[in-house]
Amino acid sequence: MDSVLSLMDHVKPATPAEACQAFYVFASASILGINVLPADLRSALMDYGARLQGGNQKEPGKLAGILGLLRVPHSWFLHYYILSVACSGFWAWQYLTRGSVMEWLVKGQVRDGRESVELLRVFVAWGLMTLQGMRRLYESFFVMKPGSSPMSSIHWIVGQVYYLDMSISVWIEGSGAILDSWNGIESSRRIPPRLPIAIGLFLAGWIKQNQCHKHLAGLKKYTLPDQGWFQRIVCPHYTSECLIYLGLALAAAPSGKIVNRTVLMGLMFVAVNLGTTASSTKKWYAEKFGPEKVASKWKMIPFIF
Ligand SMILES: NC(=O)c1ccc[n+]([C@@H]2O[C@H](COP(=O)([O-])OP(=O)(O)OC[C@H]3O[C@@H](n4cnc5c(N)ncnc54)[C@H](OP(=O)(O)O)[C@@H]3O)[C@@H](O)[C@H]2O)c1
Repeated sequence: MDSVLSLMDHVKPATPAEACQAFYVFASASILGINVLPADLRSALMDYGARLQGGNQKEPGKLAGILGLLRVPHSWFLHYYILSVACSGFWAWQYLTRGSVMEWLVKGQVRDGRESVELLRVFVAWGLMTLQGMRRLYESFFVMKPGSSPMSSIHWIVGQVYYLDMSISVWIEGSGAILDSWNGIESSRRIPPRLPIAIGLFLAGWIKQNQCHKHLAGLKKYTLPDQGWFQRIVCPHYTSECLIYLGLALAAAPSGKIVNRTVLMGLMFVAVNLGTTASSTKKWYAEKFGPEKVASKWKMIPFIF
């Protein structure tokens, strides 16, 4: 008993960054697990939007049938971006007013050591995340063509947790710098190395994704997208999403490191999640338009996937 108690003394509680990372790992592992379930269950949990509208849908089993009853509209993606923008605003307000929620998280994080992302990088990463949330919100209202396709309510819930988690991930490793600035300690004003490259990658993904969404919105539902990156990739809007989070992971890198580990784990989740959906999309297009139409296209990542 004593040895168990002394072992417990050495177990450190997780920092907020580790808690954020744990969600990404758990969610990624769950998606990989879902991929080996029977096809009807996998589809009920993972497929959404256009992929559920066509194709050779077989009669689902009992559990898949129940999950099918718990669907919400695909257009509820809108809620992700309302949440994302609201969270960005909330954290800005918390920073400016030394709010108790941010202070609690920041103090929990610096327990692990004072190694930190520079303040300028924290502001840039926060700003880029806000830009992404705002553009997606704008697109949800003014660009995307309304449809009646569904998605699983579990998918919708996981998405909400993801955007909440990511709103914290972009600044949590900068807790030391945030605390210093609250305590009046001046931060460096020099442009950190590689930051312009990170911003460039983010903007390339940001602009490209908007072009992809405009193209999808201009299509008759459901036809084969064939312009720009769609000529070579089945889901270039997902490629763009990966570029966006790669840019963010580089922009928010702590001093002496190339990437921000927490955002990188978020990118891992994005890649696993969207990679699964890109596979379903390619299969659905092949069934609907003929395999030859998509055979030569990458699903999401050129030369790799
Ligand atoms: N960070 C993350 O983890 C994450 C997760 C999911 C998505 N996202 C991002 O959110 C954005 C939207 O993703 P999504 O999965 O919703 O994309 P999607 O399934 O391709 O759908 C996007 C829009 O295009 C329409 N559409 C799709 N294929 C079409 C076709 N062949 N013909 C006509 N219209 C078509 C859809 O219509 P319907 O509404 O009728 O289906 C929907 O309005 C992407 O940029 C993605 O990167 C991010």
